[in-house]
Amino acid sequence: MRVLVTGGAGFIGSHTVLALLEAGHEPVIGDNFANSSPKVLERLEQIAGQPVTCHEVDLTDVAATDALVADVKPDAVIHFAGYKAVGESVEKPLMYYTNNLDSTFAVLAAMTEHGVEKFVFSSSATVYGPDAPLPYHEEYEPLRATNPYGWTKAMIEQIVTDVAAASPGFKAALLRYFNPIGAHESGLIGEDPSGTPNNLMPYIAQVAVGRREKLGVFGDDYDTKDGTGERDYIHVVDLAAGHVAALDHLDTMSESARAFNLGTGQGTSVFELLHAFERACGKELPYEVGPRRAGDLPVTYADPTRAREELGWKAEKTIDDMCVDTWRWQSANPNGFGG
Ligand code: UFG
Repeated sequence: MRVLVTGGAGFIGSHTVLALLEAGHEPVIGDNFANSSPKVLERLEQIAGQPVTCHEVDLTDVAATDALVADVKPDAVIHFAGYKAVGESVEKPLMYYTNNLDSTFAVLAAMTEHGVEKFVFSSSATVYGPDAPLPYHEEYEPLRATNPYGWTKAMIEQIVTDVAAASPGFKAALLRYFNPIGAHESGLIGEDPSGTPNNLMPYIAQVAVGRREKLGVFGDDYDTKDGTGERDYIHVVDLAAGHVAALDHLDTMSESARAFNLGTGQGTSVFELLHAFERACGKELPYEVGPRRAGDLPVTYADPTRAREELGWKAEKTIDDMCVDTWRWQSANPNGFGG
């Protein structure tokens, strides 16, 4: 299939482009590099040993997005593009709602106009909100969130569900990611956040490589195995494979839109991840326990049964794999794609 991958130069998008190539699909990236580097394209070509096509486009531009879809003529769209920093979304809600919703409207309108009927959406476990019982199951309702970023994911799930229901033949998979970390085993691509990392793994990796002095642990007094927060970390290469499985499943799916958790089903604490990374990089890493971060839940993890049974997909890689691969990427590229 020819697959338009919006946000394909980003962390999860770039790994998915490789997974699509490996599966014999024909990915075409649409990205404006708002939060990614064009250098990822050379790296992708180096790994894949073949050219990778990319169109630089702002997806909130309705006419440009229509022209992109008309030009690429994709069989399917995987829609990653969007802003994703929780804290920034609280400070700039309008920017988040405008960008994430407008780009989705433009993509869906262009798909409708040009008869593209397969859609895979980059959603998040954040749509379960603060009250869902563990493990998180796809049947849980209502979807909600605790910040504007999370609300854009919940809203877009609803929009896609309504568009799919109204369009005979339209099939959509809504993929709810847990905590993607790790990097491609080549060490040539990986996560490269701009500014101070908001998330645990890139912060640890930057401490290990000497860019940050020490990790701040956001609370050690939760009711968890060691008092620190537990999350369901998933290797980005497993996550990328989940997109290919979802794409291949759309033809046989009876619902017009369906949600799938992409997680491992296992919780790992902050200290467990830190210690696994210490094993991977061969040194002790400094940390300091501080107060809880506002809005954090003690524990989140997936029930991954639906993805296993219906997509035939499950996460294979361990926490140690995730740390070894992140360290290979970060140590070879201390400043990410910035050189
Ligand atoms: N943490 C620290 N120190 C840090 C960063 C994080 O101790 O410097 C802790 C957090 O308190 C939490 C755990 O590490 O217990 C994981 O935090 P992340 O920020 O890496 O991940 P979150 O689960 O908070 O956030 C993720 C995604 C968001 C999404 C959210 C809810 O990054 O996009 O899950 O699904 F909204």
